[in-house]
Amino acid sequence: MDKQLAGRTIFITGSGGVLGSTYVRRMLAAGARVVASDLPGHRAETLKAAHEGQANFRFYDLDVGDEDQVTGIFARIMADGWEPNVVLNNAAITGELLMGAGKPFPDFANTSVSDWERTLRTNLTGAFMIARQMDRDIVGKYPATLINVASMYALNGPHHAIYEGMPFKSFSAYSTTKAGIHGLTLWLAGYWAGRGATVNTIAPGAVFNGHSEEFQRRVGQLIMAGRMAQPDEIADAMLFLCSPQAGYMTGQLVNVDGGFSGW
Ligand SMILES: NC(=O)c1ccc[n+]([C@@H]2O[C@H](COP(=O)([O-])OP(=O)(O)OC[C@H]3O[C@@H](n4cnc5c(N)ncnc54)[C@H](O)[C@@H]3O)[C@@H](O)[C@H]2O)c1
Repeated sequence: MDKQLAGRTIFITGSGGVLGSTYVRRMLAAGARVVASDLPGHRAETLKAAHEGQANFRFYDLDVGDEDQVTGIFARIMADGWEPNVVLNNAAITGELLMGAGKPFPDFANTSVSDWERTLRTNLTGAFMIARQMDRDIVGKYPATLINVASMYALNGPHHAIYEGMPFKSFSAYSTTKAGIHGLTLWLAGYWAGRGATVNTIAPGAVFNGHSEEFQRRVGQLIMAGRMAQPDEIADAMLFLCSPQAGYMTGQLVNVDGGFSGW
């Protein structure tokens, strides 16, 4: 049987994180060429160490909030001989990244404009700039698809009580950007429809990443499946969206959240 992603060249932003690194591993196994990217740092180094030397893997340093870097990214990839036909807007400022290790998480009244703007710059403006560059360099030249990454906290509010006493919280700028990114999907779906490009949003649920037993218990009660997701369970749906089998889907929001949004 053919590999699910044979013939796909997949460009991913923020590839070194919990989900990004899982997508890279699974996409390579499914026969894709993977063009990974991330900010320079330990996540990028770990990802490179895991896959360097594989013929179907390449890595580019990329800050999605830097307009000059984003403007040149597809030209760089194409100059190196690969033409991405799947693009993932996956990079994001998440709670852990925003605060850094050990820094207390501010409540809403103490949220700074700089943290708010930094989150919007990466999660929303970065996604816009990647999509705009895809429009300039790819859309209309060959068939392509864009997948924007939202969250279960895009169109559903958090149950704030589950974060009481936890070292991390949900934060307002995150939810705002994750709702906004689906607006970008809806806008682009019709705009690109006549030029052979599709665009969808995936909204992952709560992904297990070493959370305490108590947090797992609290959040598990809000999820029909009764538990957090494993990264590979989100990757299962992501690989489908990247595959030719998703070719008739555009403008959709796909919840992969164990039923969190279903009741
Ligand atoms: N893990 C979850 O529970 C969960 C749930 C819902 C949605 N998501 C979304 O899935 C995506 C991946 O999440 P994750 O859990 O792997 O997060 P993560 O924090 O582990 O990884 C995020 C990655 O984005 C990168 N990044 C941050 N700023 C960047 C910038 N300016 N330019 C380029 N890269 C940048 C980071 O270096 C990191 O590698 C994000 O969009 C996140 O919002 C995650």
